[in-house]
Amino acid sequence: MDTQIADMNTDQEVLFPGRVPQHIGIIMDGNGRWAKARGLNRSDGHRQGVENLRQILEACGDFGVKFVTIYAFSTENWRRPRAEVQFLLRIIDYYIDRELQALHEKGVQLRHVGDPSELSPRLQRKIQKAIDLTRDNTKLVLNVAFNYGGRAEIVKAVQDIIRDGIPAEDVTEATINHYLYTSGQPDPDLIIRTGGEMRLSNFLVWQSTYAEFYSTPTYWPDFDREALYKAIEFYSSRERRFGGVREDQKP
Ligand code: IPE
Ligand code: IPE
Ligand code: MG
Repeated sequence: MDTQIADMNTDQEVLFPGRVPQHIGIIMDGNGRWAKARGLNRSDGHRQGVENLRQILEACGDFGVKFVTIYAFSTENWRRPRAEVQFLLRIIDYYIDRELQALHEKGVQLRHVGDPSELSPRLQRKIQKAIDLTRDNTKLVLNVAFNYGGRAEIVKAVQDIIRDGIPAEDVTEATINHYLYTSGQPDPDLIIRTGGEMRLSNFLVWQSTYAEFYSTPTYWPDFDREALYKAIEFYSSRERRFGGVREDQKP
């Protein structure tokens, strides 16, 4: 996996003139409010949200983004009414059925970030098959955060480190990175949140430390290619210091 990522081809035409984030995380929020504003059911909003993914992933590829992590279902989303949870579980099933072949043909490598064990065995097998089919694709890595929580991910990493008998003094940040679902991938450079909230809601807690955060009031089903362009434009105007001081600001 790691060498594959390093080998990813970068000679494609890039449609954004500035600095493009290598890895974008997207908190796809606002489906319910989008539906309510139209007098529809929340599930209609989720359906429209799934429809929207295709154009955004395509645009990410066109702009030269290499990794996209989409937040589709959080560990806290189980608190929603049972019917809505069932619908969200069905929608991932449907998404794989409908989009897998097209994603594969476009060179997308699918990965799951999150705990599969609470999903039905049938859905687990389906996800695994999608991962296996697309394993060698190198155009874009799509991490689907499903039954994902940043804290749960860190707890799992710590448990696995202890289980593997790694001595405390050998545990470094690199060790923890290695035990996360995103092992081998660069940290997100930009986190986009649609729907206007100004919080991470347990998304990529460890990995987003130095990500730029962009929140837009636009609901996820309305977040289009142009909106993505604006988010990348925002990113490209940011100065990232990683705790340091800019060269021309040094005494
Ligand atoms: C995001 O939209 C989708 C999921 C959390 C699965 P919401 O369902 O949270 O929509 P709002 O925030 O209620 O509008
Ligand atoms: C975050 O949205 C989770 C996903 C987009 C999957 P939520 O709607 O669940 O977050 P809160 O409840 O507003 O923090
Ligand atoms: Mg929400």
